[in-house]
Amino acid sequence: MKLIDTHNRTHNYLRISLTDKCNLNCTYCNPSGNSFYGIQNSALLSNEELLRLIKIFVVDFEFTKIRLTGGEPLARNNILDLLESIGKLKSTNPFELGITTNGTFLLDKLESLKGLGLDKLNISLDTLDRLKYKSITGADKIDEVFSSIHKAITLSFSPIKINTVIMKGVNDDEIIEMVTFAIEKNLNIRFIEFMPFQSNGWNDDNYINYEEIKKIVEKKYRLIPIHSHPSEVAKSYAIKGNGGTVSFISSISNHFCGDCNRLRITADGKLKLCLFSPKKNEISLKSLLRSAKYNDADIANVISDSILNKKLKHPEIDELLKLESNNMLQIGG
Ligand code: 5AD
Repeated sequence: MKLIDTHNRTHNYLRISLTDKCNLNCTYCNPSGNSFYGIQNSALLSNEELLRLIKIFVVDFEFTKIRLTGGEPLARNNILDLLESIGKLKSTNPFELGITTNGTFLLDKLESLKGLGLDKLNISLDTLDRLKYKSITGADKIDEVFSSIHKAITLSFSPIKINTVIMKGVNDDEIIEMVTFAIEKNLNIRFIEFMPFQSNGWNDDNYINYEEIKKIVEKKYRLIPIHSHPSEVAKSYAIKGNGGTVSFISSISNHFCGDCNRLRITADGKLKLCLFSPKKNEISLKSLLRSAKYNDADIANVISDSILNKKLKHPEIDELLKLESNNMLQIGG
């Protein structure tokens, strides 16, 4: 049965946060500088619980895409065991599996990830400069990220996407260089509009919309649109005469709620219908998973009822700024 909301949107893409812990403290994501947001291990969904949920989404609701996020998903204990079980499920019920990672724990796991059938690799990298990397993330780990990217290329992961959040006065001076990097390595670079979350320093002065970012790229490169599915949040372009691709994710200037096909699960097992849903609207799947009263069919019923409350779009920016929504660390983008 497909999961369709009251706005006739079919949902087939689940993003799961595996942990709220991250070894980086990126200013835009984890401004408090705590290395984690505070979920205790026992409050995280267990591997078994995650698998139960993934099965419900893939088998009952015909989901075709699962993305693992964090915090930093590779900071989760026993991540390879979890991936192995997900890989087994995937071999009997095919779906696309992706991970969004900061790349600092990736190098020694890449071969296993490849072997386990992970298709899509998104690596966060906001600068090519070591000192700037340190000032954005709080850690001197850019070499680990570069090594991981290089190895992922040699292992033929495809696609490899680089996520870059552009902030004026911080890394907007590197936009062209980042595109050149993508061309040289034949990667997809994705410029993401800086989004406001609580106390992450977002303001009108450091926010740049995607059209401005695109204009900067076009000072040097000619962009040719690549048509993609409407639910695809990135607007993607080939680069005339070059390899690599450039995408823009206009979460703020041009939101894409009308084609939303996504649901999210937080590290502590709450279903979020929208990235910007307030905490009070989250639905605890964990309590159902841990209750003897609910079998998988009951949980599936709760999910299909909940989705009927999904709003057509998230609030406008001034409302978002007031919202007590989760920090990105807990939702994973
Ligand atoms: N604005 C835009 N993107 C963000 N991310 C985290 N916080 C923000 C924010 N405030 C994205 C980054 C990172 C992914 C995990 O989440 O792109 O790559």
